[in-house]
Amino acid sequence: MVDYETHEYDVIVIGAGGAGLRAAVESSATGAKTALICKSLLGKAHTVMAEGGIAAALGNVYEQDNWQVHFRDTMRGGKMLNNWRMAQIHAQEAPDRVRELEAWGALFDRTADGRILQRDFGGHRYARLAHVGDRTGLEMIRTLQQHAVHRGIDVYQECTITRLLKDGDAIAGAFGYWRETGRFVVYRAKAVILATGGLCKLFAINSNSWEGTGDGHALAAWAGADMIDMEFVQFHPTGMVWPLSVRGILVTEGVRGDGGTLRNRDQEQFMFNYIPPMFAAETADTIEEADRWYTDKVNARRTPNLLPRDEVARAINSEVKAGRGSPHGGVFLDIASRRDADYIQRRLPSMYHQFKQLADVDITKDAMEVGPTAHYAMGGVRVDAETTATTVPGLFAAGEVAGGMHGSNRLGGNSLSDLLVFGRRAGLYAAEYANAMPNLPGLNGTDVDTAAEEATAPFDNTGRENPYSIHHDMQDSMQELVGIIRKEDELGEARERLQSFRERSRHLRVDGNRQFNPGWHLSLDLRTMLTVADLITQGATLRKESRGGHTRDDYPGPDTHFGTVNIVQRWTPDGAVAREEPLPQMPHELAALFEGDSHADSAS
Ligand code: FUM
Repeated sequence: MVDYETHEYDVIVIGAGGAGLRAAVESSATGAKTALICKSLLGKAHTVMAEGGIAAALGNVYEQDNWQVHFRDTMRGGKMLNNWRMAQIHAQEAPDRVRELEAWGALFDRTADGRILQRDFGGHRYARLAHVGDRTGLEMIRTLQQHAVHRGIDVYQECTITRLLKDGDAIAGAFGYWRETGRFVVYRAKAVILATGGLCKLFAINSNSWEGTGDGHALAAWAGADMIDMEFVQFHPTGMVWPLSVRGILVTEGVRGDGGTLRNRDQEQFMFNYIPPMFAAETADTIEEADRWYTDKVNARRTPNLLPRDEVARAINSEVKAGRGSPHGGVFLDIASRRDADYIQRRLPSMYHQFKQLADVDITKDAMEVGPTAHYAMGGVRVDAETTATTVPGLFAAGEVAGGMHGSNRLGGNSLSDLLVFGRRAGLYAAEYANAMPNLPGLNGTDVDTAAEEATAPFDNTGRENPYSIHHDMQDSMQELVGIIRKEDELGEARERLQSFRERSRHLRVDGNRQFNPGWHLSLDLRTMLTVADLITQGATLRKESRGGHTRDDYPGPDTHFGTVNIVQRWTPDGAVAREEPLPQMPHELAALFEGDSHADSAS
């Protein structure tokens, strides 16, 4: 019999970034007894890495903006693979969620007449991102955190969940451990909301902090939930490339939104050579026209520096491969030649300090060196668009851990609005589910014992493998073989290597005891990451086309068949089993918004 403490709730929320906080606020507002569990400290979440703003068609800068345009941009950015209903709800509800955040105390930059200012970002037809300099995610977390704390929501910090518990088919709670003491804890709950964020710690070059190990993705898969389109991973085009110690740290898209241009070694604005047909009509095709757009905003025709992220990341990758990169293997991002020092320091204070302190570069005078960094997972747990319910009764998911909303590629700024819109819905519907249940589901003691045995197994192994070296090797393999550009034989090689990492991880040994033991923590995260890596690699192997965040060297274009299906996976004791499912049918009035797009365009 294992020793553990127990807590009982109507709703528990796992993950305390923007989606988790927003969900907890909504759930507790219904009267449901709600707890928020964070792997890290409250307030420390990847949400702060969405620096440039929250996308919402408020129409404060361009009054012609509205939810239909935002919906259309989001679908086109996702190369039409998005769950259309999620994209519609998102575009319709985002403005209210931003205004609500303001009412709760968030400070935004302002237009001259005092309204929330909106900035340009890639793939958005109009300046649409409500922002606070380049610290928008941080301001969102600060506001939501204060609101949650004042509601009296119970918060459990530095607690890692390693298993979801079930009663029959339905959710019954979660099992985890305190990172400080290593002691076990069981949360019994009627409903569980996953809001664990992303998984980019699977890749060697990434913008994520240590928590981004795909925990929610694996927890849901192990609990039997459907996973959707896991092959789509977003490489944000601009991470730092130098110095090596900070490689991957995000350089906000706001730099380009505020006038920054990408240049190669020869100072050529190379993005003009990479405008895809789908965006040609609304993208400036000469430098003069793009400059006019920046200075006068004469019409909505845009610079190719602000194409969607998948396009820009691939273009940078091609320039570097062709030998036209910057000295440290990236390209140049220059804002100094278009904006004065005062503007740059006011609009992009974090970027100014980040480069000054970490790279000794003054971005008001010199260009930055930047390159793609793994930033975001489009794929995730399959959810119902209205309620965020997963296919496991009682399990809900919101934010980055949930799939479908962004299709094959997310537009910048749509993450913050996504987690507000669907965080709220998750809290609402999870509480509704829980409030309709008279009693807590049953607790299966054997499942708790098994979860505890699994967790302590690394102390009992006799092997000599080290979790840090397995993690390092796995990150290198994912980066090299399942990164921006993929192909059949390399994906096969990745699958073999993942199998060998799994084998090695059976022989890993952790020394010491359970009290704050980072090696042990990583050995448990490795189980999670290897599961998620399998899901991504299988999806990438099956999707024989290039679309959004998934580029196959051996299938360079979009494919008509794959443009009509999601890849849905379910975890079994023998690994992931995948199937194709047709995309939900979009109603005529929404489909009409895409009438100008040719089929080839919409799939490109
Ligand atoms: O570039 C950025 O500021 C990131 C935003 C996002 O991922 O939405």
